[in-house]
Amino acid sequence: RRLAIIFGGQSSEHEISVISATNVSKQVDTDKYELILIGITKEGKWLKVDSIASMEDGSWLNSKTGAYILPDATKKCIIIETGGEYQEIPIDVVFPVLHGLYGEDGTVQGLLELAKIPYVGCGVLASAIGMDKLYTKLVVDKLGIRQAAYEAVLDYEAKEDLARKIRTIEDRFEYPVFIKPSNAGSSRGVSKASNTEELKKGILEALKHDRKVLVEETIVGHEVECGVLGRPGDVMASGVGEIKSAATFYDYDAKYKLDSLTLLDSKLPDGVREKLPECAKKIFTALDGFGLSRVDFFAKEDGEIVFNEINTMPGFTAISMYPMLFEAAGIDKKSLVDKLIELAFE
Ligand code: DAL
Ligand code: MG
Repeated sequence: RRLAIIFGGQSSEHEISVISATNVSKQVDTDKYELILIGITKEGKWLKVDSIASMEDGSWLNSKTGAYILPDATKKCIIIETGGEYQEIPIDVVFPVLHGLYGEDGTVQGLLELAKIPYVGCGVLASAIGMDKLYTKLVVDKLGIRQAAYEAVLDYEAKEDLARKIRTIEDRFEYPVFIKPSNAGSSRGVSKASNTEELKKGILEALKHDRKVLVEETIVGHEVECGVLGRPGDVMASGVGEIKSAATFYDYDAKYKLDSLTLLDSKLPDGVREKLPECAKKIFTALDGFGLSRVDFFAKEDGEIVFNEINTMPGFTAISMYPMLFEAAGIDKKSLVDKLIELAFE
């Protein structure tokens, strides 16, 4: 059978996707699957990529061969384009290892639905909701799981009367508050405000990234995460991992990189390790999740669990929580990737 891995993409998480996809590719059982690599540049160009090594050294970007998923459901193929010549290659399954907008948000999933090609992970609806913080909140509100209280600011409301909106927010919340675009990958446009001026500036900045912005109360607690694997009615949750506050270091490329510590057995408030996997499964199921997700929470010192966000295509980097959590649960990376691909056929 032929498996296509799609990576990169027009998202601010492009680079993470390349790393995740490299790691996923290395775990694919090549006795079972012939692997085809498709890289999408930041500009949105689709390229056929020759090797995992070229993903690692960045030379995949020099590929002169195009590779496109054909939406025609009677073909179930990718089109390989070399110098104006086109060739069809039938494909059995796709693993879109894409993070953020244009990949984790239901767009690529929609293309694969049209093409009727099985794919790993959540469908259009769960991907789209999971990427949109406001709509995720609306769904999770119905479950009675606590999440950070929030006020939505829509672009037209800000235009009509931002001062009034700000008064509403200040009546409800103490500073500091967090400001986030509803539908933007990674943390672009996110800020923290400690006064009216910063709040106004933060809202206007976030509105450059999306028409909808959320202002949230600050939650103080442990940052904890849980992986889920499976399908509605048959979902398995991993244990709970904790992310320790990010430390900065200076790397060889003279760029600042954010590194954070991932702990699988840290001391957490009573009851959190027991309750949290159940919450993660509930949220995944309510969002109509499929295949995989990592569900992120805060755990307060009094043991209360506060939902933060769901990632429908969690990172697979060397320091990523999702594969680590399942490894700790006895599913090594190879078996995990294999299970995820098998699920795509269900
Ligand atoms: N969005 C990144 C890749 C993650 O959640 O792991
Ligand atoms: Mg994310």
